[in-house]
Amino acid sequence: MPILYRPARETDLTRAQELITASINDLTQRHGFGAIAAVRPPTFQLHALADDPRGLWIAEDDGRIVGAAFSWLCGDLWFLAELFIDPATQGAGVGGQLLSRVFAQADAAGARTRALITFAFNTVSQGLYARHGLYPRLPLHMLSGDRATVAAALPATQLHSEVIEDIDALAATLDALDIGALGVSRAKHRRLLMDDPAMTGYIFRRGAACVGSAWIAGSGHVGPLAAASPEDVADVFSAALAIAARGQSKRVSALVPGHGERALALAVQAGMRMTLPMVLASNRDFGDWRRYLPRSPIFM
Ligand SMILES: CC(C)(COP(=O)(O)OP(=O)(O)OC[C@H]1O[C@@H](n2cnc3c(N)ncnc32)[C@H](O)[C@@H]1OP(=O)(O)O)[C@@H](O)C(=O)NCCC(=O)NCCS
Repeated sequence: MPILYRPARETDLTRAQELITASINDLTQRHGFGAIAAVRPPTFQLHALADDPRGLWIAEDDGRIVGAAFSWLCGDLWFLAELFIDPATQGAGVGGQLLSRVFAQADAAGARTRALITFAFNTVSQGLYARHGLYPRLPLHMLSGDRATVAAALPATQLHSEVIEDIDALAATLDALDIGALGVSRAKHRRLLMDDPAMTGYIFRRGAACVGSAWIAGSGHVGPLAAASPEDVADVFSAALAIAARGQSKRVSALVPGHGERALALAVQAGMRMTLPMVLASNRDFGDWRRYLPRSPIFM
């Protein structure tokens, strides 16, 4: 039976996450990183489906999901959050077919920038994306450290932190940080972070001036983080890591761009270790990665 490509429905999303988790773990185990993924509720995907269903597609073989793709749009940035094929079905063109379906969302929106984050050790995904004009440009390092070690090694900062309580009152400030770093506002994604009980948002001030923002998860993960300038990133990241290290989780982590020398230097000096090499691929150069730390390969 030929493979069927169809728009995703709400009822597909949990099964799609199960397939994606199995596909990630197959890949990372083959490359010696062990199983790194666990099935999570498809909260972000559900919001995206309601926001713009053109970005969620399923490949089905005789009623069984064998592939899933999910992309989102923010202004003129189109981002491929997930593209995963059942390990037994890989290399047969299904990924390329799904990619062409989600590219239609970018085409219809006239998105100037197309980007994604993939595993730096996956030659197949990078080869597939390069064939479609998305070239690997920016190394990203997942870093993790013991919270007590990190807390003891962090340099003190003069920054004052405030929990984000009223996202609307801070909209212009947070937009300025996003637009300065990425060229687009992520206002709709901030609302999701705000609604997530596991996340707390902070802004950081030096005197009266806001020099950065960061979202910190109960798991100790920091990001997305945006700084007002490359010079501010070390202070903002240090202040955010200090908050994460005071949380319940024994570990703190972050996804740090290779171009963000100041953030990377701070993380390694604080005893954080590289755990997973990732790479950002895009059709054009965009973003100032010296002042932005994405949250994850899905959320960016
Ligand atoms: C990456 C993935 C989505 C691709 O889907 P797929 O169905 O296996 O891929 P396809 O068969 O459609 O296409 C693979 C393409 O990569 C090309 N390719 C494979 N290895 C390559 C290499 N080393 N260098 C360059 N190109 C390569 C193939 O020639 C093919 O291109 P073509 O169709 O133009 O000939 C799938 O393999 C997968 O799920 N992998 C594990 C998880 C993962 O890394 N997902 C991406 C996360 S962003």
